[in-house]
Amino acid sequence: MNGKPFCAASIVIFGGTGDLAGRKLIPALCRLNDAGLLPHDFHVFVTGRTDMTTAAFLDSFVNREADHFKKDTRFASGFERLRPRIRYLRANPGLKNEAQDFRRRLMTEEPMAAPARLFYLAVPPASMDSFIDLVKAFSDARIDHNCPERILVEKPFGSDLATARELNARLLGAFSEEQILRIDHYLGKEAVQNILYMRFANLFFEPVWNHRFISNVQISFSEEIGIGGRAGYFDQAGILRDVVQNHLLQVLCMVAMEPPLSHRPGDLHLEKNKVLKALRKYKPEEVAQETVRAQYLHGMLKGELAKGYLEEEGVRASSKTETYAACRVFIDNWRWGGVPFYLRAGKRLDRNITEIVVNFKPVPHSIFPTLTGKIESNRLYIRIQPNEGINLLLNTKPPGMSMQVSNVGLKFSYDTEFGDYRPDAYERLLLDSLQGDSALFLSNSEIEESWKFIDPIIEGWQQFAQPMFTYPAGTHGPREACELLERHGHRWRPSEGQCCP
Ligand code: BG6
Repeated sequence: MNGKPFCAASIVIFGGTGDLAGRKLIPALCRLNDAGLLPHDFHVFVTGRTDMTTAAFLDSFVNREADHFKKDTRFASGFERLRPRIRYLRANPGLKNEAQDFRRRLMTEEPMAAPARLFYLAVPPASMDSFIDLVKAFSDARIDHNCPERILVEKPFGSDLATARELNARLLGAFSEEQILRIDHYLGKEAVQNILYMRFANLFFEPVWNHRFISNVQISFSEEIGIGGRAGYFDQAGILRDVVQNHLLQVLCMVAMEPPLSHRPGDLHLEKNKVLKALRKYKPEEVAQETVRAQYLHGMLKGELAKGYLEEEGVRASSKTETYAACRVFIDNWRWGGVPFYLRAGKRLDRNITEIVVNFKPVPHSIFPTLTGKIESNRLYIRIQPNEGINLLLNTKPPGMSMQVSNVGLKFSYDTEFGDYRPDAYERLLLDSLQGDSALFLSNSEIEESWKFIDPIIEGWQQFAQPMFTYPAGTHGPREACELLERHGHRWRPSEGQCCP
């Protein structure tokens, strides 16, 4: 991996007619193109299982994305310029000799002699193996082995430790570790990357960033959307596998890791891996005490009636899949011994927000005996989205003759400071993968360690038939998630509004 862009390159998107490619990958490539960041001679091959001409694909894409173009001018102008370099190709591993046929078609369409190639597997878990085989057969036949070829794999990485290991063995049977990029798009978000800058490009957080000063840390992921058209996937997965195993644990790593030796991939992976290894694994009988699972019922969301999870199309009538999960987690190491990390993630909640709250301990003694008002513990908010920023709550004396204290925010807002331009996570990660920079991708051992933490929760839920709590769509989630904290004298700290229904 040389960290330099290639002057000729192509990306082959398997699952190219799917939702992720339409909503995220192609727009991200168009925006990169608009910003002049793509290699000079760059080609996009979108693949699907059926035969279709490039013109037909582009027409349907333009129709489908018409609204998106209106809202996103960088996407629209980037698309116009990239359009002549987008081709549609059939890639259907179910067909006989498809690997050789596909290779021939791609080589015929690829105008340059020896491009760097990035294969993006944005395909459902069930067909992952057959696409890995297709790409392997393709690259086995390569004549020029000097041209870098990489394979970028979209989550989910298996559905438990065993299947993740199988997937990895399969990948490593076909590619070298250096060629494999395992994506978690949360690492491409500006505010997530900024956690490292906040912690390691400033001096004053580090001395207080430990169990002596921090009471608890909360990481919340709240979405208004339900499962859309993804019932087939989501009803098998649930939110613990969909979001907690990856996005939330990666954010937790960024908050909790030791200072890495450098920002280079190996150094970052090593430190994140240590955090995941130190996560206390629950015994199945402890799971009920430390976690909450719940499903949404019908309710009102933004003034509109929203269906309950079991009424969603494609969801099994007796589904026991959680759409909300919360847990209390400990990192058993020197820095974090005894500090609870509370994680929660839910769909069909009342707001879209991803946020970290670091709650500091109270001052050891008050020197203000006649104070009006309460000295609150300091609190640091790190907002991942929307309205990215950081807010440190300080106790302050409001002007006047009385002895009062008021909690005010020392705020940094991306919008105010830098304007509203923020590259999408996929822009960042696609560019990094073309440049061969794997720092913001996952190592296999991080994935395995994450499953070692998640698997016992799922086992505990099943083995002890943990209740599936409920919450009406459009609310803050189940009451039991608040009780999980209240049992330990804590409460969720959203930046606005009440936390519990
Ligand atoms: C995906 C999950 O990985 O992340 C989705 O599969 C979730 O269920 C999405 O909605 C959230 O991503 P973002 O970037 O919108 O916060």
